[in-house]
Amino acid sequence: MLSQTIINELINKAKSAMSNSYSPYSKFAVGSVLLTEDEKIFTGCNVENASFGATVCAERVALFNAISKGEKNFKAIAIISSSDDFCTPCGICRQCLIEFSKDMLVICCNNKGEYKLHKINELLPSSFLF
Ligand code: THU
Repeated sequence: MLSQTIINELINKAKSAMSNSYSPYSKFAVGSVLLTEDEKIFTGCNVENASFGATVCAERVALFNAISKGEKNFKAIAIISSSDDFCTPCGICRQCLIEFSKDMLVICCNNKGEYKLHKINELLPSSFLF
């Protein structure tokens, strides 16, 4: 379990990443932050495109950012959006996240910084394995 101090730090960093969101089409800004097993931090925001299918979610931007720096083991991800609702990862992001850490803690925040905790294997039971 993560300390309250670390959870608060992750939420603040996710909020700051959200400020870089490129979301002119949906106007739905998302920020995320991944914490590696050895406590490094990688951030991401959603990046939309006029060709809508080319859009990438904040979670996968953070994940691919971390993977591209050689990281493969993660303790937690925090996700925040501009909405009143708690932001949970989409199906594609759940599949991408579980590939790397089956026990990852998922911190789902609303725009007030309140949060709900989940485990990735609870959000994506019986995930596809290859
Ligand atoms: N989005 C994310 O970045 N993460 C999620 O968990 C859900 C959706 C983005 C994709 C798109 O830019 C916008 O939110 C609306 O779907």
